[in-house]
Amino acid sequence: MRVTATTDAPPATDADTIVVGVFEDEGIAHDHGGALQALVDSGEAKRGLRKLAVTHAEGRRYLVAGLGGRGDFDPERARVVAAAVVGRAKELGTKTLCWEVPHHVSDAHVAGLVEGTLLAAYTYREFKEPETDGIEALVLSAHHDVGAASTAAATVASFVNRARDLQNKPANVLTPTALAERASELEGVRVEVLDGDGIRAAGMGAFAAVAQGSYEDPRLITIRYEGEGATGPLLGYVGKAVTFDSGGISIKPAAKMHEMKFDMSGGAAVLEALGAIAALKLPVRVAGVIGATENLPSGRSMKPGDIVRSKSGVSIEINNTDAEGRLVLADCLTHAIELGAERLIDLATLTGAMVVALGKTHAGLLASNDDWAAAVESAGARAGELNWRLPLHAEYDEQIKGRYADIVNSPADRGAGGITAAQFLKRFTGDVPWAHLDIAGTAYDNKKPYTPNGGAGYGVRTLVELARGA
Ligand code: BES
Ligand code: MN
Ligand code: ZN
Repeated sequence: MRVTATTDAPPATDADTIVVGVFEDEGIAHDHGGALQALVDSGEAKRGLRKLAVTHAEGRRYLVAGLGGRGDFDPERARVVAAAVVGRAKELGTKTLCWEVPHHVSDAHVAGLVEGTLLAAYTYREFKEPETDGIEALVLSAHHDVGAASTAAATVASFVNRARDLQNKPANVLTPTALAERASELEGVRVEVLDGDGIRAAGMGAFAAVAQGSYEDPRLITIRYEGEGATGPLLGYVGKAVTFDSGGISIKPAAKMHEMKFDMSGGAAVLEALGAIAALKLPVRVAGVIGATENLPSGRSMKPGDIVRSKSGVSIEINNTDAEGRLVLADCLTHAIELGAERLIDLATLTGAMVVALGKTHAGLLASNDDWAAAVESAGARAGELNWRLPLHAEYDEQIKGRYADIVNSPADRGAGGITAAQFLKRFTGDVPWAHLDIAGTAYDNKKPYTPNGGAGYGVRTLVELARGA
């Protein structure tokens, strides 16, 4: 979708459909022969959030969109109402949509309208006929210049949609190799890739153990971005990219196994966030580290009881081959620290337990440092990506103590599975402030208003906001 901004009034644009918002207790700001206000006065157009009414005036189609109370209108509400508009506009055959930006709203609200529109309009049709009812262009009309805000928001949304593309691709197409190729296409960053031999040679015994069962060669993808004028700490963004998680020898039940093509969602978020940060030329330094591999059963697979040595030197007893994400991440976190990361955040579809705890509404946030956790919480709130903090505590270390090695990858006690997984990761973060987002619930099929079924692109916007706030 092309996105442009103008200070012309909506009727002066070439839009076939014009959206005019109306707040509770307010009237239509610029009417067209009284048609819109009459619709509101008759009760046909309602002011509640997401309420929509259609009319025609002066040869144009108008959508009157309820915005709810002005005091409640935040960027997230802007995304939500924009998504409702997309649904109706598509039904009506809209090709060029013009939003009349409500008076006295901030750049963040304008960004919300743009993001909500682009994110809601996303479809994944790589293996289907292309869609015919797509909106082709979005115009933002405001009294002041909203060009910069809308362009930046469109950039971020397009990278979220790229992450969704990566997630939605089937595992036979999106292999670790294919993911590394996508990373190499990013502009404004330096990309280094290690293959299976490189990963083994680097001493990454935990990552290598997960990869050894598959014919697909793994990839360790490092993406470095150095923004001009950057002064803050080097940010380490780490992502789990298990392009298919069958569970390995500890194989998963068949029913939902196909969903495990989404087990690369953390890696996709890191990859596309780096792309967005570079496109926006944010003044930060970021090292993205993505561990990409399949987890499959074969005659070469890791086995329950196997003991491996991580790059950090910690020995790990693999008592469940389905707890593979933490094995991959252990070596990726160590790698990020070796690259000089001074703040760490990892994103991973790590545990089913987190889906039980928080559902698909919030990602689990666990952190070793309160200031860094607060930065992640605030970035998520600005982005409209919810996260909720859960505790880490030394007492949980009892659960991951190894019998034959330093630690086990799967605690015998199934309680607090999302926490013990994080407690495992913490062993590989040294004294670097670290936060972990368990996105197992939020990464796909999360039923958010502006997120179509399938890959949600969750995390891209939080990571961009985190870089903006750093
Ligand atoms: N990728 C899964 C976690 C997952 C489950 C993501 C459901 C999305 C939806 C992860 O690799 C896994 O299998 N975790 C195990 C860990 C257990 C064996 C300690 C789990 O959650 O069951
Ligand atoms: Mn698993
Ligand atoms: Zn997994």
